[in-house]
Amino acid sequence: MTDQAAKTNLLVVLGATGNQGSAVLKHFANDPSSHSYKLRGISRNINSDASKELAQLGIEVLQGELNDLASLKEAFSGATHIFANTDSNALIFNAISQPDILTEGQTALSYAHDMELAYGKNIADAAASTLTLQRLVWSGIPSPKKCSGGKYTKVSMWDVKEEISEVLYSKPELKGKVSTILVGIYATMPIKLPMLYAPQKQPDGTYEMALHMTGDRPIPLADLDTDLGPWISALFKAPPGTKLVGATENLTWKEWLSKWAKHNNVRASFRRCSDDEVLAKVPGLGDSLLEIASFFEEFEWTGGSTGAVYPEELRKRGVEVSVGSIDEQIARSDCSSIL
Ligand SMILES: NC(=O)c1ccc[n+]([C@@H]2O[C@H](COP(=O)([O-])OP(=O)(O)OC[C@H]3O[C@@H](n4cnc5c(N)ncnc54)[C@H](OP(=O)(O)O)[C@@H]3O)[C@@H](O)[C@H]2O)c1
Repeated sequence: MTDQAAKTNLLVVLGATGNQGSAVLKHFANDPSSHSYKLRGISRNINSDASKELAQLGIEVLQGELNDLASLKEAFSGATHIFANTDSNALIFNAISQPDILTEGQTALSYAHDMELAYGKNIADAAASTLTLQRLVWSGIPSPKKCSGGKYTKVSMWDVKEEISEVLYSKPELKGKVSTILVGIYATMPIKLPMLYAPQKQPDGTYEMALHMTGDRPIPLADLDTDLGPWISALFKAPPGTKLVGATENLTWKEWLSKWAKHNNVRASFRRCSDDEVLAKVPGLGDSLLEIASFFEEFEWTGGSTGAVYPEELRKRGVEVSVGSIDEQIARSDCSSIL
């Protein structure tokens, strides 16, 4: 049998050029055990450097727009498997920087919520009309509003992921086809979002990490480059309806800081910062960040999300799933920008 003939599955990845989508595609492109998948990544711009990089790996890159149902149907054509992710952040920052796009009564957060929910509904409709589809994995996040019984109401960019999940799971055509990955906090956040997460150099040469939390609560940290692809691969094999927590390791921020300091041979301490510091760091989003921190402290990260399992539990159920380590992720990272 030729290699081409062996490729019986077609995996379509949304957000293909982003952190999550590219990690999934690169895993499937490079992993010999995934040889049965043809790969298709969806981007709004097939001529961007990121799209060209995927094409060089032999991945088909198709133009698609989440706001355009027809283009999504085309993107999913022939798909047996879909990895679906939507991006809240660009929508929010776009609305903060261009308030003219808001209609009366809309805030940047409500605008982003409504747009993202519309994207999610389009994904559900397009997937429902894809007759070849066997499995769709939705990239979700626990909903602070739902998990707290309505106590936390300002994290709409996380709540909307659960609303999209409900749309996907309730589509009759998608019954028995949907699973969820609850991706933990990216382990790259201190480098990618330094103003919030990076340990800051102090006048005495030591480093201080200042977050609005005690730093004593373990949270799942996700090494996307190593682990997201294998998690999605495992979810394709696990029974539908499986909710997997995307955790390379469950660590407190203090534990993370100690690993980071040891690797970089520096001294570092953790400080719980004030509300005012958080509000000043990210204008327009401070209230949401304060609630996220409180949610982390009060609830286990999955917020009691019914039936969510960690990779080791999936392994116990007979589904092979690999996880890396945060020490390895830190060792691979170029921290020069924050040192
Ligand atoms: N940061 C964390 O620790 C963390 C943890 C868990 C979950 N998350 C969630 O992850 C999400 C972001 O995922 P990411 O980090 O992979 O995002 P990302 O790196 O910013 O990439 C976003 C991707 O979405 C595509 N895209 C954006 N708008 C689109 C549209 N209208 N139509 C088609 N494609 C569109 C972009 O592709 P093109 O530009 O090529 O079209 C890009 O590939 C956020 O919602 C966030 O809440 C983040």
